[in-house]
Amino acid sequence: MKKILITGGAGFIGSHVVRLFVNTYPEYHIYNLDALTYAGNLENLKDIETKSNYTFLKGDITDADLMNQFFAEYQFDGVIHLAAESHVDRSISDPLAFIKTNIMGTVNLLNAAKDAWKGQMEGKRFYHISTDEVYGSLGKEGLFTETTAYDPRSPYSSSKASSDHLVRAYYHTYGLPVVISNCSNNYGPNQFPEKLIPLSINNIKNKKPIPIYGKGENIRDWLFVIDHARAIDVIYHQGGLGETYNIGGINEWTNIDLIHKLCEVMDDKLGREKGESAKLITFVKDRAGHDMRYAIDSSKLMKELGWEPSLQFEEGIVKTVEWYLDNEEWLNNILSGDYEKYYQDQYEKR
Ligand SMILES: NC(=O)c1ccc[n+]([C@@H]2O[C@H](COP(=O)([O-])OP(=O)(O)OC[C@H]3O[C@@H](n4cnc5c(N)ncnc54)[C@H](O)[C@@H]3O)[C@@H](O)[C@H]2O)c1
Repeated sequence: MKKILITGGAGFIGSHVVRLFVNTYPEYHIYNLDALTYAGNLENLKDIETKSNYTFLKGDITDADLMNQFFAEYQFDGVIHLAAESHVDRSISDPLAFIKTNIMGTVNLLNAAKDAWKGQMEGKRFYHISTDEVYGSLGKEGLFTETTAYDPRSPYSSSKASSDHLVRAYYHTYGLPVVISNCSNNYGPNQFPEKLIPLSINNIKNKKPIPIYGKGENIRDWLFVIDHARAIDVIYHQGGLGETYNIGGINEWTNIDLIHKLCEVMDDKLGREKGESAKLITFVKDRAGHDMRYAIDSSKLMKELGWEPSLQFEEGIVKTVEWYLDNEEWLNNILSGDYEKYYQDQYEKR
């Protein structure tokens, strides 16, 4: 039985990856390692937590000794590394937390894998999950490809860029069998409600203002989270060693158009008059260093490994809204003290 370590499996994307692997590969044992920070929520995995090929390990990737201990004890054959501090706004108020987890934590895992797999790298794999934000910001034209020079602008994207470089360095220096992917913005069930889409859904539901940075002109490419998990499955199994794959939804939206679309879907689902939710849109002071446009070229992944997004955005956004409306308890459990305080500092005191 292959033993696969998935880090950050209690988070948004990680929980979808854990579920996909546990359900698709009964011949694998999946170890979900997560520190359960504010973003980690084991409720995301209620449906699979009792499966015999699943184990949860509580642990912080910044603890090097613990990582070595886990590698020695469980003898992992592969790693899919998603654990990270992931919110740009938080990286602006507390960069060091991002340096510690995203850089130091990644190095601890690389070292643990390198030492545990010494002399027996055959069949092993260290898969690092990264973001398109490492490439910086685009103008109106162009797409990020795998050869676009890194140009990160926020503490978050810089820490992810750093970790990508280190993963590549371990491939070239120590022969660690690595693969990397850089994905665009994800949306879908289980996303922590500090991020644009779930935050807006929750505010629309409660008739609270929907905060939009600047004029809402920033452009992002959006991919349904389950399509990202499918891409991770394909790349983990078929990706070339030392290779990088870009993953995107071929689905660019300005923030303001996206929110108008979301308002339409919410009006429909909540039985409100057309246009009612859009009245909640409120423009707030722009994020410092806000990247203007991200857009990703995933043709390498599509041509070489045959992946493509399964869901059109129109369908994905309806599914997402339905999920948040059907899972009130999940949302209410998250909307507790810390989140509210953070939310007030971030938006209401501006
Ligand atoms: N969300 C996106 O749109 C997006 C897009 C591209 C890439 N990514 C990348 O995908 C990964 C997952 O993103 P997400 O949106 O699911 O993030 P998330 O914030 O929802 O989840 C992160 C998880 O990591 C855990 N974690 C944080 N610090 C840890 C530590 N020190 N030790 C152990 N666990 C720790 C948290 O508890 C949480 O469960 C990240 O590496 C992120 O950079 C995200």
